[in-house]
Amino acid sequence: MAEFTLPKHSRIGKGKHFPAKDAKNPRVFKVYRWNPDDGANPRVDTYEVDLAACGPMVLDALIKIKNEIDPTLTFRRSCREGICGSCAMNIDGTNTLACTRAIDDCGKKEVPIYPLPHMPVVKDLVPDLSHFYAQYASIKPWLRTQSATPASGERLQSKEDRAKLDGLYECILCACCSTSCPSYWWNGERYLGPAILLQAYRWIVDSRDEDTGARLDDLEDPFKLYRCHTIMNCARTCPKGLNPAKAIAEIKKLMLQRRV
Ligand code: SF4
Ligand code: SF4
Ligand code: FES
Repeated sequence: MAEFTLPKHSRIGKGKHFPAKDAKNPRVFKVYRWNPDDGANPRVDTYEVDLAACGPMVLDALIKIKNEIDPTLTFRRSCREGICGSCAMNIDGTNTLACTRAIDDCGKKEVPIYPLPHMPVVKDLVPDLSHFYAQYASIKPWLRTQSATPASGERLQSKEDRAKLDGLYECILCACCSTSCPSYWWNGERYLGPAILLQAYRWIVDSRDEDTGARLDDLEDPFKLYRCHTIMNCARTCPKGLNPAKAIAEIKKLMLQRRV
């Protein structure tokens, strides 16, 4: 994992103010700024954006800021439709996707925008997800089989078995859930966190996978799985409406079942 200095919020410096001249419908965004290369403290810049000339989503406002007000602002985005997960950040006090979060749904008059909490920051709103992705790789997220491939070339699944993947396959690995989880904040080095455990369950429950026992063995560890204390922040924040806590509970149930 790359080494980055975690900015201390207590050291947040005075930010810049970018007023919107002649705006018909101004809205204020308070955006976290930090560049580890310039040696300065983090700060929160204030941008006034004219919503009369802006799209409806928070990502539209960020793109407008970058294109028209301050090109130094750094954030990730790709699909703009809630599929790639790259625009995950903390908006208006909640981890969510900037591209699917409507500005009108932000309750605070001055909308605060921060990077995902408790992650090293690469720059501004970009968190370093190297460790998160390494944890994902650790659960071997692909179909593992021992039997010969059927002559048809396809491993078929009944409709009922396929339905067991609903609520799991939709995960876009945005990390909103893991970075809202207090257990992951404090034990993220060893606790896999809700996103990765939901993904682990997605393969455990797949009827075509033939490595269920080994997958459960890999999770039989005091930290990887059992740091979940059912606080439920993960389910509350997931922008795709998924319930990682339920997936974690199902894994724990399977662990118990195989012990009796
Ligand atoms: S479960 Fe939801 S919040 Fe967590 S990574 Fe997947 S899509 Fe994002
Ligand atoms: S339910 Fe478990 S995984 Fe979800 S936020 Fe709480 S401790 Fe974290
Ligand atoms: S830009 Fe892809 S999820 Fe927001």
